[in-house]
Amino acid sequence: MAKIAVIGAGYVGLTTGACLAHLGHDVVIADNNDDRVKSLEAGIIPFFEPGLDELVGDVVKSKKLSFVLGASNASGNAEFHFLCLPTPANTDGSSDLSYFEEGINEILTVLQPNSIVINKSTVPLGTANRLQEAIARTDVHVVSNPEFLSEGNAIRDFLQPSRIVIGSNSREHSERVAKLYSKLNAPILMSSWESAELIKHTANAFLAMKLTFVNEIATLCEMTGANIKDVTDGIGYDPRIGSDYMNAGPGWGGSCFPKDSASLAQVARSFGFDFTLLEHTIDLNQKHLDRTARKVQRVIPTDSPHKKVAAWGLTFKAGTDDLRYSPAVEVLKRLEEDDYEILAFDPTVKEKLPQLTSTVIMDDPYGCVNGADALIVLTEWKSFKLLDMETVAKSMRNANLIDTRNVFNRVEMEKIGFTYIGMGL
Ligand SMILES: NC(=O)c1ccc[n+]([C@@H]2O[C@H](COP(=O)([O-])OP(=O)(O)OC[C@H]3O[C@@H](n4cnc5c(N)ncnc54)[C@H](O)[C@@H]3O)[C@@H](O)[C@H]2O)c1
Repeated sequence: MAKIAVIGAGYVGLTTGACLAHLGHDVVIADNNDDRVKSLEAGIIPFFEPGLDELVGDVVKSKKLSFVLGASNASGNAEFHFLCLPTPANTDGSSDLSYFEEGINEILTVLQPNSIVINKSTVPLGTANRLQEAIARTDVHVVSNPEFLSEGNAIRDFLQPSRIVIGSNSREHSERVAKLYSKLNAPILMSSWESAELIKHTANAFLAMKLTFVNEIATLCEMTGANIKDVTDGIGYDPRIGSDYMNAGPGWGGSCFPKDSASLAQVARSFGFDFTLLEHTIDLNQKHLDRTARKVQRVIPTDSPHKKVAAWGLTFKAGTDDLRYSPAVEVLKRLEEDDYEILAFDPTVKEKLPQLTSTVIMDDPYGCVNGADALIVLTEWKSFKLLDMETVAKSMRNANLIDTRNVFNRVEMEKIGFTYIGMGL
């Protein structure tokens, strides 16, 4: 069993650390946020990820996992160092590697001979090579091991991955990293640094493109009377296409797709490659978010005297509390610009969001719809399906339901008295 340091206690770092400890390794997770470390030491998980609190509790109890403040305090004793640091987007779409560089600088002087620095953060092609140059030691090795987990299913995705990608410039170093995962039953793909980095960006850009394609077809369905659910079912049976990532929605977002697509497009530009398909995918998603906001404007014109909108769902998808680049927030920003009065409810959000200037956060879905002229459903939380929609319709001033995730059944909603507008239906 190996001694492992994990740098960054976010969605990826905490899941990685807890799962590696669960596999029997001795893991120390470091973060530079004092409050986060204190809260973890007190047994409180600083974000919502199903099952993570139990798993962390178990491995802390069995002394396989502990937390420290400061990367160097975790790395001094470890053979493997997992970098799970943020890589947000710069304004030109390129990746901001400053957190990443800061993390590395903190551990440079404490790295033991023959240790391996493993990058789990999503980074542009060429980063591992630059990292090896920055470390400037022949006895410390860099391996790229991109993470594919999705929030809401993070533990399952880590422990039952569809594949493990390990990129390096040495078979021996790749095999040492592969051994850390020897208890997992998953195909291991070994490649160069560059391929591993491009695999991760390509996977996210491809999924974003798939969602944009479905959203474009959904718009065509609305114009032609076809039904997007039938169309996606009809093509999803084809194994060459597959049925995942086939739900029409308000537009894609989240902590990864927007920044990773933008970063890949920027990498392509830096090599002089005109990646029109990807650039258009990014633009079309913005247009789709505009189109989603216009669905509200269709039932409540911008010059209407009654412009009260209830919004259900703020996170970028169900099963997470992550609000980064949430399409729900992007749509509400557009409505705020047109002076709609917005009351919003989300099971994981309790406080006003800095991204939204006037939207009021409510703590219950029924209170949120009282006197509203439209209800817009923006996140596909299962709990919404359990609400009494007759009560909801009765308490609204105008029972308009804009269901951007196709959570509800049109016929049932119309029977209750809603004017129902779905996505691609
Ligand atoms: N969230 C996902 O679903 C997901 C999935 C796959 C890959 N990724 C990638 O993984 C990386 C991390 O993403 P995340 O969502 O876990 O980010 P996050 O923002 O949730 O967590 C990052 C953590 O790193 C800490 N940190 C920042 N600088 C530090 C430093 N110098 N020393 C120690 N800790 C430091 C932060 O305090 C934070 O706790 C990103 O590159 C992301 O693109 C994310």
